[in-house]
Amino acid sequence: MALERIAAIPALRERIRDARHQGLAVGCVPTMGALHSGHTALLDRARSECDVLVATLFVNPLQFDRKDDLRTYPRDMETDLRECARHGVDILFAPTAEDMYPREPVTTVEIEGLASGLCGASRPGHFRGVATVVLKLLNIVQPDFACFGEKDYQQLAIVRRLVEDTDLPVRIVGVETVREPDGLALSSRNALLSPAERAAAPAIYKALRSARRAIGAGQADAASILAKARDALRREPLIRLDYLEIVDPESLAPVCRITGPVRIAAAAFLGATRLIDNVSADPPEGR
Ligand code: PAF
Repeated sequence: MALERIAAIPALRERIRDARHQGLAVGCVPTMGALHSGHTALLDRARSECDVLVATLFVNPLQFDRKDDLRTYPRDMETDLRECARHGVDILFAPTAEDMYPREPVTTVEIEGLASGLCGASRPGHFRGVATVVLKLLNIVQPDFACFGEKDYQQLAIVRRLVEDTDLPVRIVGVETVREPDGLALSSRNALLSPAERAAAPAIYKALRSARRAIGAGQADAASILAKARDALRREPLIRLDYLEIVDPESLAPVCRITGPVRIAAAAFLGATRLIDNVSADPPEGR
């Protein structure tokens, strides 16, 4: 099937209705474009489980807490169309801001608790914007399932809870983070790094990995594990740490004593570019 590009919501709905009438399974990968191998891993995963693959491409103004971040967010429609075609996307739903928000929305989705820590603490309103647009996109596309990357772990946890709380009939599939050979998690924002910042950036994953190793070796005191990992990052002159935390994988609440599976998550600025990453960690068996 050739890639079809649709901007208008009614046209997309009609196309999906046709697919449903034929009994076809619809998969969805929501994106903000500037597609890289992290996104194409999501497309490949979704492609393998559905008949009609819809990718959405919308740089959602509602989720940007900084105007300059929205302005400089990488955009590359030509590459995105090529990658969508190459990875078997049937429909690219790429609405304009007017298509998505013809009026200033007075209905938004507020996520309590889950959205208040980690990235939520330093990006006020970000997850309100994410949850609102994801709910809209899932309502518009009405897929059987939708894929989200584990790199945005807090977003994934929030989307899972949003779907549960609002009884949306969609399965949320989390897909493992794709990394550069030096460990840096793929992100559209990596393109904004200077060569020196790019060289420093893998230190984030290195710090996460050393914390994971400590947990795997049986260290249980989160504060001392975090202190070491934060110190390692503070020694990198080009990195300004936003947070590095050990949290419960579901509630995202900070964990003090590690007795079960946890998520270690970090965010850091390199110049004006903010990068995030996370890993899972398990204490030794029998703890
Ligand atoms: O992860 C993203 O690219 C965005 O936050 C999403 C889920 C497409 C919502 O705008």
